[in-house]
Amino acid sequence: MRIRSNTYQKVSHQIANYIHKKANDSINGEHFILGLATGSTPHQIYEELKSMDIDFSRTITFNLDEYVGLNENHPQSYKYFMNKGLFKSQNFHSNNFPDEKLYPYYDSMIDNVGGIDIQILGIGTNGHIAFNEPGTPRDSKTRIVDLTENTIKDNSRFFDSIDEVPTQAMTMGINTIMKSKAIYLIAQGKHKKEILERAVYGEITPEVPASFLQEHPNCEVFYSD
Ligand code: PGA
Repeated sequence: MRIRSNTYQKVSHQIANYIHKKANDSINGEHFILGLATGSTPHQIYEELKSMDIDFSRTITFNLDEYVGLNENHPQSYKYFMNKGLFKSQNFHSNNFPDEKLYPYYDSMIDNVGGIDIQILGIGTNGHIAFNEPGTPRDSKTRIVDLTENTIKDNSRFFDSIDEVPTQAMTMGINTIMKSKAIYLIAQGKHKKEILERAVYGEITPEVPASFLQEHPNCEVFYSD
């Protein structure tokens, strides 16, 4: 695993193209299973996808995570973000979230459709992937977790006040993510550079959950300033 640096625009375009190809290839074959992330990082990928002529009718999506306690009408819920930012404007087969009803079955739901073909990932400033915070074991599955102070602070920029940020979330586990056939990890911004380098070139440790990706056979890592 190594870090490739390029502009945010180019990285987003490249990943959107990977998705475009897989989605269109699936039209006459197996479903394409796409794992999606929220937050600032994937925004441009979704803008690119919206501008492309893609047939998503055989694409099934699984989002990485969702806050506990925010329903899909809440502007900061990840369901709301994805519906508004991508799903409404394309013809997906189905879109799944680890919500309060489904999260106990989420790993089986993914396995039952053959596993995730492409998983998009961001990285937190504390090294988390999805909401797998430092200390998360390698064998973790989809579950409810407590968010760390660091994550609550980082995500407070999307809310009116830090007190409104949920303190828990449902998240795919490290094991869930590691079963994906291909993973694209994107870090955008200088504030992510140091933790990205630790994740990619440092010790593999639960203290930097993204470091487990070093053990993945097909993970590409992108950095843009
Ligand atoms: P961001 O979040 O894309 O909003 O920076 C990434 C993450 O915390 O995983």
